[in-house]
Order: sequence, then C-alpha cells, then structure tokens
Amino acid sequence: MAMAPAPEGFREMLALVYGLPGQLGAGIATARSATLGKPGRFDNVVIAGMGGSGIGGKIARDLLAGECPLPILSCQDYGIPAAVTGRTLFIAVSHSGNTEETLSAYCQAHRRRCRIVAITSGGELASLAGKNGHPVVNVPGGMLPRTALGYLLSPLLVVLGRLGVCLSYESELKRAATLMRNRTGKWHAQAGTIARALNLGLPVVYSTSRLLDAVADRWRGQLNENAKVLCHTNVLPELDHNEIVGIGGPGATCGRAVIIALTDRETHPRNRLRLEHTLSITRGGYLRAVTVESEGKGKLERILSLVMLGDLVSVELARLRGVNPMAIERIDRLKVRMAGAKGG
Ligand code: PA5
Repeated sequence: MAMAPAPEGFREMLALVYGLPGQLGAGIATARSATLGKPGRFDNVVIAGMGGSGIGGKIARDLLAGECPLPILSCQDYGIPAAVTGRTLFIAVSHSGNTEETLSAYCQAHRRRCRIVAITSGGELASLAGKNGHPVVNVPGGMLPRTALGYLLSPLLVVLGRLGVCLSYESELKRAATLMRNRTGKWHAQAGTIARALNLGLPVVYSTSRLLDAVADRWRGQLNENAKVLCHTNVLPELDHNEIVGIGGPGATCGRAVIIALTDRETHPRNRLRLEHTLSITRGGYLRAVTVESEGKGKLERILSLVMLGDLVSVELARLRGVNPMAIERIDRLKVRMAGAKGG
C-alpha cells in the first residue's frame, strides 16, 4: 500500500531528532567554556524548567539518584520547595528564557541566596542572571525547546560535574552520542512499528524502573506535542496498587489503550514479574501491549536510547496522523493569553 505524503514539518522534525547525538557533543563544549566559579558544598540541587526545558532536569534526577548523595529535585511550578536555602545549587533551565514559572522560581531562589546557574538561549532569564551576577550557559536559540534536548542536557550534566555534585559525565555523553548515531536506523524502523500500533488507540506508557521515569514523561510530552495525542503515563510497582483495578474502564476509551512498557536491565526482577502478571490479569482491558528494552552499557546511554526511540515514535505517529510535528499552536496561544492577562 502506498504511503500518504509526509505532512508539513515531518522531515524537519525527523532531521532534528537525528541531530540529537550531535547536540550532546556540542553541549559539552558550551558548558566547558562557561565561567562557573569553584565547586561548592551543597545540601541539595534543584533544577527548574518547564516542558521541553524541564525534561533534562528530570533525566539528571533519575540518572544521579543511585549515585549522588544529594537530593536532586525537579521544580516545575511558580514556587520553590522550602528545602531551598543558601546551601542549594539552583539551576534554571529555559530555552527561550521567558517562561514565567521558571522566572518566578529563579527570582525566589535568588532571594534565598542560592548558588544559581542559568541555562538558556537568552530572554529575560539571561538578562536577570547577567544583572544578578549568576553564570549563564548560553545554548543555541531559534529552536523548539523539545528539539534542543541535547543542547540543554549536556550542559546541565557538565555543570553538575564541574560544581562537584557528581563525577564527570562527559565520556558517557560521548558514548551515548555514538550509540545513538549507530542505532538510529534500527530504532527508526522499530519506531514505525510502534507508531502503527499506537495509531489504533490511546498511548499508555509505563516505566518499570526509577531510571526511566523521566523517559516516560518524555514519551508523553513528545506524543502530545509532535503527534497531537493524549498520552497517559504511570510507574511500576505503584500502578499495581491502584491503576491495575482501573485498566479497561471506561471501556470505550481504555479498551483502546496501547500499553508501552519501558524496561531496563535495572528493572527489578519483581517488577518484570509484576509487568507480566499485570498484563495478564488486565487482558481484555487494553488493546495491545508492547515492551521496549533500553540499549547500551551505561545508564545515560540506556536512558537516551529510549528517549530517541520515543522521539522517533512521536514523529512517525505524526506522519500517520497527518499532523505537523513542529506546530504547537495551543501552547503558543496560551502563552500569549497568559502574557496579556492580569492576575497572579
Ligand atoms: O515544547 C515546548 O515548546 C514547551 O514545552 C516549552 O519547552 C515550555 O513551554 C517552556 O518554554 P522554554 O523551554 O522556552 O522555557
């Protein structure tokens, strides 16, 4: 059967996904050359950022959870947690530099005298940070934030390494980029198959390891923004204590669920068993289930292998649905309305 012509924005978005490994390398160089000051002693690390600029912070949180003794929190709201003090390392990430939640969190962190670093392409965040004497890591502008993940994530990890929060991730970032370059073709073919399965129903993405929680969020965000579909996410084992009962209801919607289970070599064997039994007990309550295993040696490689697969799935689903993966008209419209509205 002949394939329908690709929608507007398809090739552009696909090229950007293929460009992710290159961004990882470029991001290292950018962050290496930034003036950050000396490493510090911190009680915790808070990484603020929304949407496409927030996902890197969550990936860093999951990546470092098993090895960094400091709590690493992702902040995605106007306010900051009470745990933020003068001994907090606060990293504000906003690709545009103009996201109001991130700017609000940044201003509060400044008032609490945190050690602050901004990662941005410019905007209000760059000006405020410049005025307040906070280091700014400048990333390339003129892009959709979700397509700049490599430019945002690499600097974040390099900054954390340079300020003494974790060991250097530079080698792992390079290894991840190599793995991604070598496997993109294979993952693209796999993504086509998954997208065809998803085109029949409602995507439901389950993370089976805390290493992959942010990856599930990335899948959801990319399916929302690129493919213009609703997507539900949850995590094992928690979902076995509530959601398992709800799978399949209401039938007209949930009976169309296509479950994507993200697995990793760190998935606890009991969680693998749980996945098997959960899918078997709830059979009939969903349309189809697909399990995808991360690839690569290091944790970052494994995380990014599934990030890239999810990105490719979202672009392929956009193609099948005939929608422009570059367009996010509703987000743009909402930002204009919020900027013009009083209140808060
Ligand atoms: O994908 C998007 O465009 C959004 O999710 C943005 O990343 C989000 O609105 C935040 O904007 P910024 O990344 O410029 O801080």
